[in-house]
Amino acid sequence: MSLPEPYYNDDPKSFAYPTIHSRWPKIIQGAIDDVKSVINTNENLQSTGTNIVIQLQELLASFKNDEVVRSFTTSEINLSKEDLKSYNSTLIKLNEHKKVTWQTGPWLYLECYLYQYINNLFLAEIKQNSFWSKYDVFQVLKDKTFQQSEFGVLELLKKYHSLVADTKLHEQQLTQDQKLLLFRDFIDISLWGNATDLSLLAGNVTLEDIKSLQGAETRKKNEENILVNDIEDAWKQLINKQDTDRVDIVLDNSGFELYSDVIFALFLLDFKIVKQVKLHCKTIPWFVSDTRPVDVVNFTEQLKSSDFFPEIHSKHKQDIDFLNSKIATYIADDKLTYEDNIYWTLGGNYWNLGQHTKLYEDLKKHSSLIIFKGDLNYRKLTGDLQWDKTTPFITAIQDLATSQLPILSLRTCKADVVVGLKPGVNEELIERYKAQGNEIGEFWSSSGKWAVISFSNGKN
Ligand code: F6P
Ligand code: MG
Repeated sequence: MSLPEPYYNDDPKSFAYPTIHSRWPKIIQGAIDDVKSVINTNENLQSTGTNIVIQLQELLASFKNDEVVRSFTTSEINLSKEDLKSYNSTLIKLNEHKKVTWQTGPWLYLECYLYQYINNLFLAEIKQNSFWSKYDVFQVLKDKTFQQSEFGVLELLKKYHSLVADTKLHEQQLTQDQKLLLFRDFIDISLWGNATDLSLLAGNVTLEDIKSLQGAETRKKNEENILVNDIEDAWKQLINKQDTDRVDIVLDNSGFELYSDVIFALFLLDFKIVKQVKLHCKTIPWFVSDTRPVDVVNFTEQLKSSDFFPEIHSKHKQDIDFLNSKIATYIADDKLTYEDNIYWTLGGNYWNLGQHTKLYEDLKKHSSLIIFKGDLNYRKLTGDLQWDKTTPFITAIQDLATSQLPILSLRTCKADVVVGLKPGVNEELIERYKAQGNEIGEFWSSSGKWAVISFSNGKN
């Protein structure tokens, strides 16, 4: 079967187009401003920081001038623990087809390349000043946005505490149907938690928009916007698990989304649906707000801090203490674990997961369900190709459909690729989105207002 083309940056009907013309420049400019503000307050970082700023400015210019994208150099490859080699080999193949330039190349590859490129600028200065080894240019934004999510955090905290602390509920054996109801609810929370993606702040989305997506009322209203819903299949997979007893979550954004994922993980453990939950993190700062292991550590500290969440700590102490002790205990008992892997930040799709033997074998052997969070993970599952929107999910994920890995994708749609829709749905949404006053109807699929919950048992 021949595969469809990927989405390209010069296609005005692809969300790649506004992304590269408006959002990327803002993201790069934001990084420049961040480094400048750091060097302004620290004399020792002047020379290394200025190098980084100059190179970020050069990146911005080469991007605006639509220059040809270059390979990573040997010293860059050495700095980044070899994971850039595969970027170069892909670039060679892409160049055979058509010279890759910033404004015309394939969207997914170039967006991944961009974050690797930015990361390298920091790695290159570590020898001169080790300060940059731990530096995350998006950290300030991540922390600020999580702190401003206090209302959503509190609402979910109350819900979780009242559910789990309700001793009656604990004493009585819940039926499978009751557990399924709760499972749906917590999946929903984790799904819409994905609306909190800070790379969108560089577009038309405001912080107020993001906050308004964090409440229970909005989740309920959005129920009908879930276009594909395979929750029951995923549930059956979980309760029929045989030798495995772990849920894996390939995380997306830190902050509120991570919070919603951790609450979901606690639910799975509290209600003994599985014995262990493993969180998979990114190794480098990625797509602005993605979660690194250090973000998980910061997150647990932020939940404990009365400076970070003053209202919660002064007025809802019992609830937050309860949550913090749950998290601490599960981490200490190795029931809630987290780790990173460079596989998640490579430039291509996830179809070759089976070739990354250690990661694959671990998932195959231990995981009852692998949950992929968010938009970018969905793009990588489906290759970010121009699939017809009625293509079955198991076709679009190619080798993963036969990989023996049970996969569930929870994704609010923030890019072009969507599969598994019923015939006519795409056309209807294009018209509906236009009627709402949007110039390009096709952009319904990148508005973040619709979602898909797609499952493959890995045995097709
Ligand atoms: O569509 C906007 C965008 O930044 C895409 O570039 C990317 O796929 C995605 O959002 C990141 O979203 P998420 O955090 O859900 O993966
Ligand atoms: Mg993300």
